[in-house]
Amino acid sequence: MKAVQLEKPRSFRIIDTVEPAAPGPGEALVRIHRIGICGTDYSGYLGKMPFFSYPRIPGHELGIEVLAVGEGVAHVKQGDRGAVEPYLNCQQCYSCRRGHTNCCENHQTLGVMCDGGMRERMILPARKLHLSRKLTFDQLALVETLAIGCHAINRGNPRPGENVLVIGAGPIGLSVVEFARLIGARTLVMDMNDQRLDFVREEMGVPATILTKGDGGELARLAELTAGQLADVVVDATGSNKSMGQALNYCAFAGRLVYVGITTQEVTFPHAPIMHRRELTLLASRNALAPDFTRIIRLIEEGRIDTQPWITHHADFNGMIAAFPDWLKPETGVIKAMVSVE
Ligand SMILES: NC(=O)c1ccc[n+]([C@@H]2O[C@H](COP(=O)([O-])OP(=O)(O)OC[C@H]3O[C@@H](n4cnc5c(N)ncnc54)[C@H](O)[C@@H]3O)[C@@H](O)[C@H]2O)c1
Ligand SMILES: [Zn+2]
Ligand SMILES: [Zn+2]
Repeated sequence: MKAVQLEKPRSFRIIDTVEPAAPGPGEALVRIHRIGICGTDYSGYLGKMPFFSYPRIPGHELGIEVLAVGEGVAHVKQGDRGAVEPYLNCQQCYSCRRGHTNCCENHQTLGVMCDGGMRERMILPARKLHLSRKLTFDQLALVETLAIGCHAINRGNPRPGENVLVIGAGPIGLSVVEFARLIGARTLVMDMNDQRLDFVREEMGVPATILTKGDGGELARLAELTAGQLADVVVDATGSNKSMGQALNYCAFAGRLVYVGITTQEVTFPHAPIMHRRELTLLASRNALAPDFTRIIRLIEEGRIDTQPWITHHADFNGMIAAFPDWLKPETGVIKAMVSVE
């Protein structure tokens, strides 16, 4: 059976790997049809992802078909199609017992800390499959990216009409935009890449964008666009510690700031004049929860999330290996590349 392995940073190869055994109790044998590529894969490829180890079969954004199920699996059957919640949790730790399955103390993300779905078939816990009869494999593989934005907005919890500023218009920032909009919040997007802001205005239909030029003019522009109130909720999806420290300045009094982007650097910010004076709430956002997957599938089925602008590139295994260095460059215009398993 064919698989793609990231042998070491910057080196993919196609390998022959063993067929999975029959599914055990609670498990499903699935055929992988589609794999979405995301920032985590790009960082893993560049050797910049702290949780990534090598060699690794990547792939955590999956559109699958069920081939067989093991004992005790009732909600999934052969022929079903679904998205995969790729966050493997232990079901025993303090987080899991309280329902915080997204931040299990023994968490493993498929394709990051253990082998993922860039292969023809694999065994998965059946409880991690979220089914749909309507969605295409491309759409199913997009659900996980959307789940990250869904969870971030759940953390920030904006109310209708509030100003939500999303900093960083990469796929994660765009997924945040989808859910801010659904709530009826007024969404503004900031980025230092003009091409990405063009995409936000033209493809996502969000008119209020702010270009970060590094000259400090962003705050004035935000104030102008929000009648001086600034943003009730700011979601930083840049992964830049500089931006994350700066982001507090964009919060309204009593505002909430969500860090959905990830940095390994220190984040510093002014306490007394901003954090304290405005009584801000700072929130992290990691992964997503099972109900987020169910909700997103329903939203796409109902046409309330349009996946059409999202998927910009397609390739098979060989095509992906050849195109990968290009997909790393924002000027290629990649939002979401989908890999098909032929
Ligand atoms: N919370 C989670 O569970 C989770 C899951 C997946 C990814 N992530 C993280 O989300 C972040 C974003 O991922 P992505 O795939 O969208 O990345 P991306 O690199 O495609 O997008 C980041 C965007 O931020 C912009 N940006 C960077 N620095 C900036 C600055 N100082 N000011 C303004 N804009 C700036 C870039 O121009 C880019 O458009 C990453 O840190 C990633 O690791 C988090
Ligand atoms: Zn991802
Ligand atoms: Zn756990």
